[in-house]
Amino acid sequence: MLYLGIMSGTSLDGIDISLVDIDSNCRHIASQYVPMPTQLKNELLSLCSSGSDEINRAALAEQQWAQLAAQGVKQLLNDTHISAHQIRAIGSHGQTIRHEPAQRYTVQIGSPALLTELTGICVVTDFRSRDVAAGGQGAPLVPAFHHMLFENHAKPCAILNIGGFSNITLLNQQEETHGFDCGPGNVLMDAWIQHSKNSAYDHNGGWAAQGTVNQPLLSTMLQEPFFATQGPKSTGRELFNLAWLQDILAQHPSIPAQDVQATLCELTAQSIAQAIQQTQADTQAVWVCGGGAHNENLLGRLRRLLPHCSVASTDSIDVSADWMEAMAFAWLAHCCLEGIPANRPAVTGANGLRVLGAIYPA
Ligand SMILES: Nc1ncnc2c1ncn2[C@@H]1O[C@H](COP(=O)(O)OP(=O)(O)O)[C@@H](O)[C@H]1O
Ligand SMILES: [Mg+2]
Repeated sequence: MLYLGIMSGTSLDGIDISLVDIDSNCRHIASQYVPMPTQLKNELLSLCSSGSDEINRAALAEQQWAQLAAQGVKQLLNDTHISAHQIRAIGSHGQTIRHEPAQRYTVQIGSPALLTELTGICVVTDFRSRDVAAGGQGAPLVPAFHHMLFENHAKPCAILNIGGFSNITLLNQQEETHGFDCGPGNVLMDAWIQHSKNSAYDHNGGWAAQGTVNQPLLSTMLQEPFFATQGPKSTGRELFNLAWLQDILAQHPSIPAQDVQATLCELTAQSIAQAIQQTQADTQAVWVCGGGAHNENLLGRLRRLLPHCSVASTDSIDVSADWMEAMAFAWLAHCCLEGIPANRPAVTGANGLRVLGAIYPA
C-alpha cells in the first residue's frame, strides 16, 4: 500500500513529495523536494490576488506546476527503484491561490489530469472543497492525520505545523481532536526579509535574533480580529500579506527593519502560545513540524511563552518535520479511495463527516 503525498504550501518555497507506506502506520520511506522556480513562484503569488487574465494565467501556471511535480515523482521513483504501478495513488494538495471559506470557496490548482497523464498514477486532489461545501473552513485537514499518527503518544499534547501559516492540532485523553489555523507562520517574516534584504527566508531566525521586539507594533498587530476569534477558523494570504504589514508599519514609522523582523517572529510565537493557552492550557508537549521547526529563534520564543510545555521538532520523535504535511496528503488520498471520511467537523465547522477529494484514475 504505497502512496505518494504532494504538498505545495502557501510559502511557495517548493513542492514536497513523500513516499508513504500506509500499512506500516504511514511510515515515510523516501522524499523528494522540488524547489519552486522564481518565475513560477511570482506568478502563483500574483494569482493569489485579483489581476487581469487570471483564468488563462492560472491554467498555464498549473500546467507548469504539474510538470514539476511529475518530474519530482519520477525522480523519487527512480531513486527508490519503485515503479509507478506499485503506487496506489498520489494525494496532491495542489497550490492554494484563493481561500475564501466565508464566500464558500477555496481554490487549489495543480492540473491533476496532467499529473495523472505524466505519471501514469491515480491522482486524488481537491481535498478542501467538499468540506467547504458542507459549511466548513476546508482547513486545517491535517488534524485527523495527527490524531492517527500520535495515537500512542503522551497527551495532552499539540502538533504545531509552521508553514506559511501556522495550524495546530490539540490532542487529549478524551480522544477529541481540536485544531485550527493560529495565524501567520513564516509568511510575514518571509515577506519582510524578501522586501528588505531580497532573501527568501530568515535562516534559523538569525536576522530576527539581531532585532528587538517593538511592543507598540506588536500590540497593533495582535489587534487583528482573527487572533481573538474562536475556532473553527482558517486564514491565508487574503488577510496576512505584505500590504497588511505595510499598513500597520505606516502607523509605526521609523522602526529599524531588523526590529520589525523580531516583532514578526514574536507575533507568530504569541499567536500560537495564545491559541494553546486558551484552548488546551494543560498541554504538556508541543511537537513542531513544517519549515518553521528549523527556526531556532522562533522555537526559543515559544519556549519562553510556554514555560510549562516542552517545545521540540517532531524530528526528535522520529516523525520528519519536513515531510509531515506531504505524508498527511498521502493518507488523505487513501481515505478518499477507501471511502473514509477525513474531515473533523469540530475542527473545520462542517455540517458533518465527509469523504474528501476528487479521483483521477490512472
Ligand atoms: N532553516 C530555516 N530557518 C528558518 N526558517 C526556515 C528554515 N527552513 C525553512 N524555513 C521556513 O519554512 C518555510 C517553508 O515551510 P513549509 O513547511 O514548506 O511551508 P509551506 O507549507 O507554506 O510551503 C520557508 O519559507 C521558511 O520561511
Ligand atoms: Mg513548502
